[in-house]
Amino acid sequence: MTEPVEETAATTDATGSAPEVEATVATTTADAGPEPIIRVEDIGIDFQGRTVLDKIHMNIYHGETAVIMGGSGCGKSTLLRLIVGAYRPSRGRILLFNEDITDLDDKEMDRLRLRFGILFQSGALYNSMTVGENVALPMREHTDLADDIIEIMVKMKLELVGLRDFGDLMPAQISGGMKKRVGLARAIALDPEIIFYDEPSAGLDPIVAGVVDMLIMDLSKKLGVTSVVVTHDMHSAFKIADRMFMLYQGNVIAEGTPDEIRNSTDPAVQQFITGAPDGPIPLRMSKTDFAKDLMGE
Ligand SMILES: Nc1ncnc2c1ncn2[C@@H]1O[C@H](COP(=O)(O)OP(=O)(O)OP(=O)(O)O)[C@@H](O)[C@H]1O
Ligand SMILES: [Mg+2]
Repeated sequence: MTEPVEETAATTDATGSAPEVEATVATTTADAGPEPIIRVEDIGIDFQGRTVLDKIHMNIYHGETAVIMGGSGCGKSTLLRLIVGAYRPSRGRILLFNEDITDLDDKEMDRLRLRFGILFQSGALYNSMTVGENVALPMREHTDLADDIIEIMVKMKLELVGLRDFGDLMPAQISGGMKKRVGLARAIALDPEIIFYDEPSAGLDPIVAGVVDMLIMDLSKKLGVTSVVVTHDMHSAFKIADRMFMLYQGNVIAEGTPDEIRNSTDPAVQQFITGAPDGPIPLRMSKTDFAKDLMGE
């Protein structure tokens, strides 16, 4: 079997049971008021002594679509991986559904994983399985549902992403944009309360990217889910966001509604949203002195 290229822990590794019960929780907690569904408290992460994120605070609330944006390499995917428990922070804590995930063991984390779905950049489909089997996989792994029920549920999930007639095709027989949609159908297989998206429109033409944006908004409205979208596509970000967070040099430098971000006077924010090559955001990401580096100091 060809393995998906990106992390699949959230959809395939988790062990646990009773996602039907979790689905009930989804509908009741969606109205739970102003308590954040995700709290990022003062987190930081270092890789080989290099600080990538530091002192990040972030509250994301039930039902909202939060967009995390920022330049390439600023740590967006890393932040997403921290929030879904794929990385452990070097400092600080992260609360998902009011549980401190920095404190959970693997089994407890697997239980929480059933409550959120992730759409990876590549779609991360299993190439040896049909589209329908890919969507059915989390249901087969984590529920006791009978085959005919799973078949109906797969149809419902594929209908939500507009691909009901494509269940029998192999991933190699569908386009990149369709793969993303199948990835999305799989991400919602267990009726998650939160859907995380990493660069959902990357590599898609503007029309297909627009379709994916529409799906994100549609799912958020129809299913009442909380969405966390990492993107550097400004057009898409302003269209789908209820609130936006801008990362720069390891910190959140701006947070607010699309209008507040648009009107930000921060030069780095303005440079990023206008795409200007000149401004505080540097081309070079190395922090060490070039001359000293060449001299081996
Ligand atoms: N497992 C890891 N080991 C070492 N360094 C890492 C690891 N994961 C991420 N990094 C570093 O963290 C920094 C941020 O990477 P990340 O992938 O989060 O950026 P990004 O904002 O998602 O960029 P892009 O927009 O290009 O996807 C990079 O410098 C990267 O090298
Ligand atoms: Mg990334």
